[in-house]
Amino acid sequence: MLQNQGIQTKLDLEREENIPELFLNKDGVTDALLNLIQNAAESFSAKQREKLITIRTRRNHHAIELWVIDNGRGIEPERWGSIFDPGHTTKGSDGLGLALVREAVFKSGGNICIEDSQVGRGTSFKITFEV
Ligand SMILES: Nc1ncnc2c1ncn2[C@@H]1O[C@H](COP(=O)(O)OP(=O)(O)OP(=O)(O)O)[C@@H](O)[C@H]1O
Ligand SMILES: [Mg+2]
Repeated sequence: MLQNQGIQTKLDLEREENIPELFLNKDGVTDALLNLIQNAAESFSAKQREKLITIRTRRNHHAIELWVIDNGRGIEPERWGSIFDPGHTTKGSDGLGLALVREAVFKSGGNICIEDSQVGRGTSFKITFEV
């Protein structure tokens, strides 16, 4: 589906043996990741040539870290504080996606933040689960 839109995807995953068993709501976290990927896919302008979404996982000491990274339109710094609020949208959509993402991540004991975003260059969302 992403390929049809000219979007390249890259998986950069931690070695499986480095990932301990995580006790989380699998459906909730899967939905959250899909929601982030959907937003990433919507962040590209039609005329943009190189559209790339990267999914990355790493073990970092006592945490499992996941990133969804795009090279899309980016988020203005003044909006970083409100994008997780229900109803916040720049697409005339429901603006519920990130509110649900955050709720699902919290329910599984994780945390989510914008790690970095630069207008015209892209955005990286980071989810952390302590283990
Ligand atoms: N990867 C991203 N790149 C650029 N902007 C983003 C990205 N993810 C979220 N945003 C911004 O945050 C806003 C809120 O995202 P959210 O997913 O909550 O709502 P939405 O995508 O507008 O609507 P919905 O998900 O309900 O269809 C978006 O409208 C957009 O402005
Ligand atoms: Mg959305």
